[in-house]
Amino acid sequence: MAKKPLRVGTVGCGFMGRTHANAWRQAPRFFDLPFEPVLQAACARGEGRAQAFADNWGYGSAETDWRALVARDDIDVVDICTPNDTHKEIAVAAAEAGKWVVTEKPLALDAGEGEAMVEAVEKAGVPNMVFYNYRRLPSVTLAKQLIDEGRIGRPFHYRAQFLQDWTMSADLPQGGEGLWRLDAKVSGSGVTGDLLAHCIDTAMWLNGPIVRVMAETETFIRERVHQTTGEKAPVTIDDACQFLCRFANGAMGLFESTRYARGHKALKTFEVNGMDGSLSFDLHEPEYLDFFEYKSPEAGKTPSHTAGWRRIHVTNGEHPYMAHWWVPGLVIGYEHSFVHAVADFLTAAGKGRSAAPTFRDALQTQKVCEAVLRSAKSETWQETGAEA
Ligand SMILES: NC(=O)c1ccc[n+]([C@@H]2O[C@H](COP(=O)([O-])OP(=O)(O)OC[C@H]3O[C@@H](n4cnc5c(N)ncnc54)[C@H](O)[C@@H]3O)[C@@H](O)[C@H]2O)c1
Repeated sequence: MAKKPLRVGTVGCGFMGRTHANAWRQAPRFFDLPFEPVLQAACARGEGRAQAFADNWGYGSAETDWRALVARDDIDVVDICTPNDTHKEIAVAAAEAGKWVVTEKPLALDAGEGEAMVEAVEKAGVPNMVFYNYRRLPSVTLAKQLIDEGRIGRPFHYRAQFLQDWTMSADLPQGGEGLWRLDAKVSGSGVTGDLLAHCIDTAMWLNGPIVRVMAETETFIRERVHQTTGEKAPVTIDDACQFLCRFANGAMGLFESTRYARGHKALKTFEVNGMDGSLSFDLHEPEYLDFFEYKSPEAGKTPSHTAGWRRIHVTNGEHPYMAHWWVPGLVIGYEHSFVHAVADFLTAAGKGRSAAPTFRDALQTQKVCEAVLRSAKSETWQETGAEA
C-alpha cells in the first residue's frame, strides 16, 4: 500500500543539511514507516547554493528565505539545520503555521528561547524532535537498554569527554559563514553548547537529570579577526569547559570539552560505573560498547577469575536498530544515527506523538548548559532546574 507522503522543507544546506537530506531519503528504504518523506524544498541564503543543494539531493524546489518556506501550504514538516541563533524564530513560526518541527541541537541560544519554543510546539500540538543524534548509535542505545535492565546496578560515577583541536590557530578568524561557532551571538556559547550539549543529552538519557554543576571555562585566544568586519574583536565563546556535577540519583559526574586538545578531532567518550557493572563508549569505534559485568541479574556475581571487560560488537540483529541494516558483523556509522532519528520521529508522528528528545527534553539540556556557564562566571555551584 502506498505510504502517506510527508512533505519536508529543510532550512540550512551545510553540514547538517546534508546529514538530514540523506536521512530523509534513507529512513523509509530501511525502516517500515507510516510516511514516505518527500523532499519538497531546501532553503539556504544564496540562490545558487540552495538550488545546487536541492538538485544534488533531489528536493523539488529551492528557497532563499525560510519565511517563504514556512508559509508554503505544500510543506508538512520544517527541518531546521541552520546556526543556533535562528532555531527559535524558525521553530516558533513553523509551529504557529501548524507544521511539524524538527531541529538541530542545541535547541536554542539559551533556556529563555528554549522555553518559548517548547510553548510554541506544545500549544500547536505538533510532533517535534531535536537531533541529539548520538543517542541513536546502536551501541549508545544498547547502553541505555543495559542500564534499564539493571545490569550496572546503582550508578556512582559518570564521566564524559568531547575533545577537538580545530580552533587552536590564532590566525583563524571568527564569525560569518563556516565560523559562526566562534561568535557567541550566533552560537550562544562555545564548546558548552556545541559539544558538551551532546554529552549532557546522552548523560541525562542514561542516568537521569543533572541537578547541580560546578564549572570552569577558558578562552585561550581572546581576540580574533571577525569575518564580517575584517576587524579584530574579542572572542566571546568558551574554548574549553570542564565541570563537576551531581545527578538526581546521587551519582557524581565529570565532563570535559575543548577545541584545544592537539591531535583530537572528535574524541567523544563516556563511561558509567555502577555497583554491578560499568559501561564505556568511544566514538572512534562506534560499533563497540565495552561492558564490565561484575554481577548479572540472571547469573549473580561473575567468578573473579573470569571477570573482565567485554567488547560487545554491536552488529547483531538483536542489537538496537541493527536488524534494519546488513548482516551480523557488518558495521554502520555516523550518518545512520540521523537515519535512526528520522525513523523514530516518523514512527512517533504516525501515532500523533513527538520523538525523544522532544523540545521539552532538549530544554533540560539547555538548562544544564546555562547553569554550567553561570557557574563558570560566578565560580559557584549552580542548581540546573533540569527535570526528568
Ligand atoms: N547533531 C550534530 O551532531 C551536529 C553537528 C554539527 C552541527 N549541528 C548543529 O546543526 C546546525 C547547523 O550546523 P552546520 O554545521 O550544519 O552549519 P553550517 O555552517 O555547515 O551550515 C549552516 C547552513 O545554514 C544556512 N543558513 C544560515 N543562516 C540562514 C538563514 N537565516 N536562512 C537560511 N539558511 C541559513 C547557511 O547558509 C548554511 O547552509 C547548528 O545548530 C549546529 O549546532 C549538529
